[in-house]
Amino acid sequence: MTMELNSEKDQPIRRRSFLNYFLGLSIGTFGGSAAYAFAKYLFPPAAIGAESGSETVRVMLAELPIGGSKIVRYKGEPTVVIRVSEKQVHALSAVCTHLGCIVKWDGSKRLLVCPCHAATFDVNGNVTAGPAPKPLASYHTKITPDEVIIGEA
Ligand code: FES
Repeated sequence: MTMELNSEKDQPIRRRSFLNYFLGLSIGTFGGSAAYAFAKYLFPPAAIGAESGSETVRVMLAELPIGGSKIVRYKGEPTVVIRVSEKQVHALSAVCTHLGCIVKWDGSKRLLVCPCHAATFDVNGNVTAGPAPKPLASYHTKITPDEVIIGEA
């Protein structure tokens, strides 16, 4: 008889303990996530590369067929690398100068096309159509026998 009373009394305490544990875990997880997001806001990784000014990015030529392109991150920004010919490569910011959508290379038209409002840019980044107010930023490239180095003249 005494055993049953104890087990009945224990039940709510265990449930309460579990709920307290679960509530604490939820608050801890939420707090940790918020702190991480705030820290990323205060110290964005892009700012580190942009401040150094010496950042380079290497792309293997094997990954870049003639007429093809590849999106890489350069100085914290999406950058499109276009292989125009055997020895000619362009690297341009892939961020549209209109409202910041990411442009894509259309090899058949030889244009960069913005999917948001249809702005187009030539292989040098110049605006050829649409609402974009400025050309895309262009970066130095150097071709070696095996790779393209973005950010090196
Ligand atoms: S964001 Fe590219 S055309 Fe509007």
